[in-house]
Amino acid sequence: MRFRPRNHREDNPEIFAQLVKNNPYMALVYDYPELLLPHPTPENFQQLWSVKKRAVSDAHSVKSHVEIGCGSGRYLIELAKQNPQDLFLGLELRYKRLVFAAKKIKQQNISNILLMRERGEFIDEYLPLNSIDCLHINFPDPWSKKSRRKNRILSADFLNRMHPYFCSGAELRFKTDHLEYFETVTGILQELDNFKIVEHTTDLHRSDFNGNNILTEFELLFKSKGNPPIGYLSAKPLNK
Ligand SMILES: C[S@@+](CC[C@H](N)C(=O)[O-])C[C@H]1O[C@@H](n2cnc3c(N)ncnc32)[C@H](O)[C@@H]1O
Repeated sequence: MRFRPRNHREDNPEIFAQLVKNNPYMALVYDYPELLLPHPTPENFQQLWSVKKRAVSDAHSVKSHVEIGCGSGRYLIELAKQNPQDLFLGLELRYKRLVFAAKKIKQQNISNILLMRERGEFIDEYLPLNSIDCLHINFPDPWSKKSRRKNRILSADFLNRMHPYFCSGAELRFKTDHLEYFETVTGILQELDNFKIVEHTTDLHRSDFNGNNILTEFELLFKSKGNPPIGYLSAKPLNK
């Protein structure tokens, strides 16, 4: 079993009280039990995900989207509003961003999003094989230093591990302002024989793909600060 973050709120309230003094959002993440799992397990995830699924539709064919590193939820919320028939799962590590996202989702009465505090690398512990219709990864931490690049979420190993979890006809969407990271992921996808790039640009905002683009929080910030080129690609998992 891999290490799961300790639940100090339940196991050690004194330590929890100290931590909350430094970061009040560590307590606020518990205010949204209907849409945010601060300590997800495959069991509590499955329970809430099924509730969300039933709320969206009785049909089996609900599409599932996953966003890794959803930040304060701008992109996920907009996408969920545009696709009320689909289900959306947002993974994020930072407490404050999770609380901001949950607050907006609740205020806007959006019922097709579930958030959890979890690392994207572990998504395969929660979802069954052949279940992801679209995996969105927007502006992931670039780990620019060469010695740290092994920490990047998008690697050949991660993509190969994720491949069985995609449905037939599924999609991976990735955008970043870090063009070296973008070129590296492009190269990895070109070398893998189980993915095919179907959309690709190194300057999203000045490309034909911009019309359907939903801005993330980071993207908005970049736009206001000189609008540097953004790499965007969409890839299809093959043999599904
Ligand atoms: C640069 S920010 C981008 C946030 C958002 N996608 C946007 O574009 O505005 C990267 C986000 O990924 C989250 N993150 C970093 N590593 C992660 C991981 N392994 N799993 C899930 N989220 C992660 C960070 O906490 C941060 O909020």
